[in-house]
Amino acid sequence: MKYFVTTPIFYVNAAPHLGHVYSAVLADAAARYAALRRGRDALLSTGTDEHGQKVRQAAAAAGLPPATLCQRVSLQFRRAFEAADVQYARYVRTTDPDHAHAVQHFWRLLDSRGYIQKGSYTGWYSVPDESFLTPSQVTEEVRDGKKVAISSESGHVVTWAEEENYVFPMSRMRDDLRHWVRNHLDVRPAKFGRLLESWLEADLPDLSVSRPVSRLDWGVPVPGDDQQVVYVWLDALVNYLTASGYPGQLERWPPDCQVIGKDILKFHGVYWPALLLAAGLAPPRLLLCHSHWTVDGVKMSKSLGNVVSADEALRTYTADGLRYFLLREGVPHSDGNFSRKKAANLLNAELADTLGNLLGRCAAAAVADLLLQTVASLPAAVGEAYDEFCFYRGLEAVQAALRSANQFVQLKEPWVLRKQPEREAELHSCLAVAMETLRVAGILLQPVVPSLAGRLLDKLGVRPEARGWRHAERPCPEGGQLGHGSAVLFQKLR
Ligand code: ME8
Ligand code: MG
Repeated sequence: MKYFVTTPIFYVNAAPHLGHVYSAVLADAAARYAALRRGRDALLSTGTDEHGQKVRQAAAAAGLPPATLCQRVSLQFRRAFEAADVQYARYVRTTDPDHAHAVQHFWRLLDSRGYIQKGSYTGWYSVPDESFLTPSQVTEEVRDGKKVAISSESGHVVTWAEEENYVFPMSRMRDDLRHWVRNHLDVRPAKFGRLLESWLEADLPDLSVSRPVSRLDWGVPVPGDDQQVVYVWLDALVNYLTASGYPGQLERWPPDCQVIGKDILKFHGVYWPALLLAAGLAPPRLLLCHSHWTVDGVKMSKSLGNVVSADEALRTYTADGLRYFLLREGVPHSDGNFSRKKAANLLNAELADTLGNLLGRCAAAAVADLLLQTVASLPAAVGEAYDEFCFYRGLEAVQAALRSANQFVQLKEPWVLRKQPEREAELHSCLAVAMETLRVAGILLQPVVPSLAGRLLDKLGVRPEARGWRHAERPCPEGGQLGHGSAVLFQKLR
């Protein structure tokens, strides 16, 4: 069975930024790691969320038909992910015909099982979050001298809505949902699992699952009622089913790992499993919830003009550089801060100097038991961290080994040894140790910086079939010969 990883699908109201690339790269690294470590073919799905009021308003603001805006921005996301070496098997656009078919099939299934009821909604709606809010989730604030109602969770301004729609009886799912979350769902990091359980303690209001066409004309039509479109979150969540072939034969279900940002935990930890349980389908097994990126300590926002676009970041840092920064500096459990200075310093110090110099020194100088032991224990330490999706900890361990190796080489001074024929054996063992460190580091770095790691292993002359996780767990039998290709792995940033 393939290891099935999903990313959220991204709203096309604005161009991709650093935070979006992070969601996708984290999922891609998890998929690549599963393939490398467990020899399981991995399958990654991603895509764009193109319906709903938020996208409809963005199109109106741009003076474009919604389909034109969607086409344009969806392509920007796709190009950004490709440029970031995100290897997806399916890119779901919610405007794809097979997806609309999946949504309508899912709707009919819920209806036939008695989970779709005619109802109405009177209350607050947050367009930026595409979310219905209870009175307790709304507070008042003064903004620009005016009193406004805002969502206390997201801080977005909310609007009042009174409309006819269809309702999903959430309260009926509460016991099943609680049982399943407690016993069968793995949420990482654990603090988000505790948050989710606390939500399930509270009342669960019924969920509106459609919007009247009079208010919103951009969505999947409700089967059998042309006056209603499917609520954008129900539409969006079904993308994971679309990606696995629904409503045809489901080859891989449920997903093995669903990567999400913390702002959408409620949709994935409450609504999504409730809908799946009601439909008689298996809910997800694991939610990997990540925190957010700030820029120079401030939340990224279009109005503040501090958004770091995906394009700019990829151009400045390269795919490997950006992936390395995001996974080395980003920790799932708390917000990370991006600064250009920090990114340049980290990449220069770790990819160009610590890793790059060691390779450079072997090459230039043609460059210990303790070090080899560190290297031998590295795959276990890194694997433990990657298993927890804590890529930053794995990278820290790799860097520690590389630093030790650099120190060792500095100490041995192979460029001096080379001039002393009687110390040839010492020279060889020094080089072997350095090369072995690089070989193991190269294998373990593959999920994070696939292209850079590939070039490193090429340079070391490690054959493609000798690049599996298990090859890192065993010492290399023969001391390698440096292959051709440049010894510069990462061009220093200025
Ligand atoms: O929520 N740092 O889409 P979206 C890190 N369409 N991650 C960030 C971020 C930041 N500053 N800003 C956004 C949606 N993200 C829905 C999802 S899934 C069925 C539907 C992350 O474009 C955010 O946490 O608003 C989320 O995981 C992803 O980008 C998409 O956000
Ligand atoms: Mg959002």
